[in-house]
Amino acid sequence: MTQVGSVNQILRVDHAGERGAISIYRAQLLVSKALNRRCVPALQEMLEHEYRHHQAFESLLKARGVGHCYAITLWALGGFVLGTITALLGERAIWVCTSAIENTVNEHLEHQVAFLASADPEALAAVESIRFDEQAHEEHAVNNGGASGGLYRILHGIVRGVTSFAIWLSTKL
Ligand SMILES: [Fe+2]
Ligand SMILES: [Fe+2]
Repeated sequence: MTQVGSVNQILRVDHAGERGAISIYRAQLLVSKALNRRCVPALQEMLEHEYRHHQAFESLLKARGVGHCYAITLWALGGFVLGTITALLGERAIWVCTSAIENTVNEHLEHQVAFLASADPEALAAVESIRFDEQAHEEHAVNNGGASGGLYRILHGIVRGVTSFAIWLSTKL
């Protein structure tokens, strides 16, 4: 793949991932307003971040005339399902889900930053601009019971697996 192709792939994957994140938080908020009210302010704040992240990649894709990932609808739907299930399981499951996703995402962003540093300063700035928030989301999740203990290890592992698979799939579509 050419360097431009690799950069475009990164922007499309990240754009799709942010779309998935929006769906997860929207679903978790919807359920949590009834069941886990304590989580609502943090979820609301994180959702605001995800809107901003999504917009950053949307603008870059548009400016470069690059179409979004074909799997975008799948990310949106999958995110909504994952968000609903975890929110129904309760507050701990919400933060286990966030910590598993953000942990996977932050690893992924690290590789992107290393590649983009020499390849594309503009794309690098976009990835760097979301990194701080994603790290803060992971930290908040871990500090609120999202570290994978006991049975939650299983949920943590599943969400990590799903996230890695979704990222891999998006690089193919
Ligand atoms: Fe994000
Ligand atoms: Fe996030």
